[in-house]
Amino acid sequence: MSTPVKLAVIYYSSTGFSAQIAEEISDTAIKEGVEVRLLRVPELAPEAAIAANDAWATHAAASAHIPVAGPADIEWADAVIFGTPTRFGNVSSQLKQFIDTLGGLWAQGKLANKVYSGFVTTATTHGGQESTLLALYNSIHHFGGIIVSPGYTDPVKFKDGNPYGTSHTDGQGQNTIGELTRNAARHQALRVIQLTAALKAGLSG
Ligand SMILES: Cc1cc2nc3c(=O)[nH]c(=O)nc-3n(C[C@H](O)[C@H](O)[C@H](O)COP(=O)(O)O)c2cc1C
Repeated sequence: MSTPVKLAVIYYSSTGFSAQIAEEISDTAIKEGVEVRLLRVPELAPEAAIAANDAWATHAAASAHIPVAGPADIEWADAVIFGTPTRFGNVSSQLKQFIDTLGGLWAQGKLANKVYSGFVTTATTHGGQESTLLALYNSIHHFGGIIVSPGYTDPVKFKDGNPYGTSHTDGQGQNTIGELTRNAARHQALRVIQLTAALKAGLSG
């Protein structure tokens, strides 16, 4: 009998937009019977910078109960969905720093043959959603991972328009995460789960 898929949802979020997508993906996977670890990566910013920004300080306090990711969570997982706000069109330094702690697992070949996918949030419409996800996926190629992007595999993708992964434009903090983004996140979660289950069954068969 096949064992449930083990999914790690690992994200950085300063003001909570990426965190909400992570939660949507996690909730969707739990409903599917998947074993889920919803995890945040360690903060790198100085306390003073966080305290000077109300939205950042509020989210930091609200997410303190979310466990912090470590390399063992990647080793445990069959599939990993990473999430990050863009930083000048790139992956946030916090998530990148976490990825850079995975060298030991990489050297042992333990990052390979897993499914990976990603999501992103930006302030503006053309603010780097695609470039951020492509930058994230560079690392996955080095892992020997299997990138499962949503493509246009569901009608929702023709509405949210990002085949690289779920994305949200927060409009300088004004646009809440709505049903369009949530539907895209649910589809991404289900697609990752479905393909991971097939891969897992195939590798063990
Ligand atoms: C240093 C820095 C650089 C950023 N660069 C961009 C950018 O290039 N394009 C953009 O649209 N938003 C940019 N943003 C905004 C955030 O990526 C955006 O507000 C994101 O949705 C926040 O997600 P979070 O709430 O999960 O932290 C930047 C924010 C910071 C602090």
